[in-house]
Amino acid sequence: MEAREGQLLYSALCYEAGHPRRTQHILKVYALAKLLGQQAGLEEKQEEILGAGAILHDIAIKYCKDHGGAASQAEQQQAAPALVSDFLAKAGYPAEVLPNVLELVLHHHEYRRPHGQLMQLLMEADLIVNCYECPPDPARRQEIEAVFQTDQGKTLLALCLQSL
Ligand SMILES: [Fe+2]
Repeated sequence: MEAREGQLLYSALCYEAGHPRRTQHILKVYALAKLLGQQAGLEEKQEEILGAGAILHDIAIKYCKDHGGAASQAEQQQAAPALVSDFLAKAGYPAEVLPNVLELVLHHHEYRRPHGQLMQLLMEADLIVNCYECPPDPARRQEIEAVFQTDQGKTLLALCLQSL
C-alpha cells in the first residue's frame, strides 16, 4: 500500500468514528477491490485510483446523515465532490486523480450506465460485500449476477451466494 493510500484509509476510518457497519464496509470493499484490481492486472496508477475510490465510495453517507438528510443517492452525489476532493488532498494525492476517483464515488451504483474497468471492479467488490451484509432475495440475486463480468468476481459472488 502506498503511503498516501494508507493515510487515506486511516482518515476515512477516523471520519467514520468507529461506526461499526460503515467502518467494516470500507475495509471489506477496499480489500476486495484491490484484490480484483490485482487479478485484473491493473497498472499501478489505475490500481491507486481504484483503491482511493473504494475507500471513499460511500464517504458521503455520514455527511448527509449528520446534516439531517436521509443519505439518498442524490444527496450523496451532491455532497461527494467536496468531500472526495478534501480527503484526497489531505492524504497527499495529486489533483489529477480527483476526476477519476470522483467518477467511481458518484456512479458506482449505476450499473447500467456505460462504465470502464475500474468502475466495474468497484461495483463487483461492493456488490459482493453487500450480499454478505444483506442477503438478497432470489430476484435481486439475478439482478446482481447480471452485473458481473470478471471471472474472479463471478467466482467470489457464487461462493458468497451459495453460502447464504
Ligand atoms: Fe458500498
